[in-house]
Amino acid sequence: MIPRSKKQLALLETDIYPMSDNGSSYFSDPSFALNKTMPIHRWVPWIAGFSSSFVRDVLVTFLKGAGTVLDPFAGVGTTLVEAMLLGHNAIGFEINPYAALACHVKVNAHRISEEELRAETAKLQAFYKDKVLSGYQPKSIPPQGFRTRSEFYSPKVLRKVLILQDFINTIARSELREIFRLAFASTMVRYSNYSYEPSLGRRVSAGKSEIHDFPVGQIIVSKLLEMAEDIAWFQDNLPDGSQEATVHNTSFFEYQKYLEPASVDLVITSPPYLNNYHYNRNTRPQLYWLGYAEHPKDLKPLELSNFGKYWQTVRDKDRIDLQFSLPSTDLRERLQALRETNPEKGVYGGNGWANYAASYFNDCYAFLKALRYVLKPQGSAVVVIGNSILQGIMIPTDQYFGRIAELVGLDLIRIEIPRAERVGNSIIQSNVRVAKAKKSHQLYEAVVELRKPA
Ligand SMILES: C[S@@+](CC[C@H](N)C(=O)[O-])C[C@H]1O[C@@H](n2cnc3c(N)ncnc32)[C@H](O)[C@@H]1O
Repeated sequence: MIPRSKKQLALLETDIYPMSDNGSSYFSDPSFALNKTMPIHRWVPWIAGFSSSFVRDVLVTFLKGAGTVLDPFAGVGTTLVEAMLLGHNAIGFEINPYAALACHVKVNAHRISEEELRAETAKLQAFYKDKVLSGYQPKSIPPQGFRTRSEFYSPKVLRKVLILQDFINTIARSELREIFRLAFASTMVRYSNYSYEPSLGRRVSAGKSEIHDFPVGQIIVSKLLEMAEDIAWFQDNLPDGSQEATVHNTSFFEYQKYLEPASVDLVITSPPYLNNYHYNRNTRPQLYWLGYAEHPKDLKPLELSNFGKYWQTVRDKDRIDLQFSLPSTDLRERLQALRETNPEKGVYGGNGWANYAASYFNDCYAFLKALRYVLKPQGSAVVVIGNSILQGIMIPTDQYFGRIAELVGLDLIRIEIPRAERVGNSIIQSNVRVAKAKKSHQLYEAVVELRKPA
């Protein structure tokens, strides 16, 4: 029977894998907020990034000796950095060039000397002060293809940003130049007329005033000094040995070109959620200003290969179906119910959202098959994934994900929800509240543990 109303759907919302109700949690809170004060991790904020302590706990629990750790959706590299700190080799895939830059700079940070970075920062201070106070005309120009509804930078701020670019172009050593580029990219929205809410939008639309002038040099210098301090910390805390981290700035779906079968001991990752957070649109300023995009068409390939696609890329397609069947679950029925919701809304109605959800689960299927390929026998994968509510219909992504894992031949060990509320900063720890959150259609994040059979 195909359920047609939300009331009928509520009957289907039973857990496939019930949670333990003893109030204790096997996994710690995976949320990124905890990273904001941690050395190295604090360099670049990232939506739905991991907390370093969550990653560390997983590494300690799952790996007894040095191993190979993979993060197929590496974001800004939390997994890679923590793996290195514990003496493991790490491999990351990240499709977004700005995030991949962040990963690359962080995992190579120990190769830079703190003194060299401090000396270059002092040079920047002198250059910047001299140029800002004189009638200097910057040689750099803003990225021509970057179009925004409002002026991205006010004229006074823009001049300072261009002076900074002029300085960055004088840095001969590429590793050092990359650090300066990252310091700029990770702070650049703060002095623009845009802000993250958490999607990128005009400040005025969020009730904030435009920024007419800003001490750009000061913020960059303090960022660089923080980075110098962290580099010294990283060098002190990396164990002796030859642990390596490799970052591939490409889609994980290219894995067969880069990874041998059965070569990975542990996967720790968090793929994009079925919530349409548009990593590419939200990083347009960084992608253009760092030179990774010159024209909107440059962002298209990124959009099309993004895990789960985006609603915008599939909403006007006729019908996208699941490429697999998932026995004993209501996934197909739920997608059908979604497809039949709000047909009068055209591309904004259920069909577009069902296309998006089906594309998302098709990518989950491809991803899980890839995990089976790369993991060593008895290797584990710990995947953080959020649920979703589309057109009022709750999609328990974690539950379906666990079932798809079983379908491709992985063992599902557990699903846990360490944090029941994804909105705002509140952290709900109690499992009583977790159960309530699930019943009342709240957003939550689940940790799914999988193992490849021996
Ligand atoms: C939830 S975030 C991961 C955050 C990460 N755990 C951290 O702590 O920084 C998901 C990431 O997957 C990336 N991504 C999306 N599609 C991808 C693909 N096909 N291959 C590799 N990375 C992809 C996105 O750009 C995004 O950075």
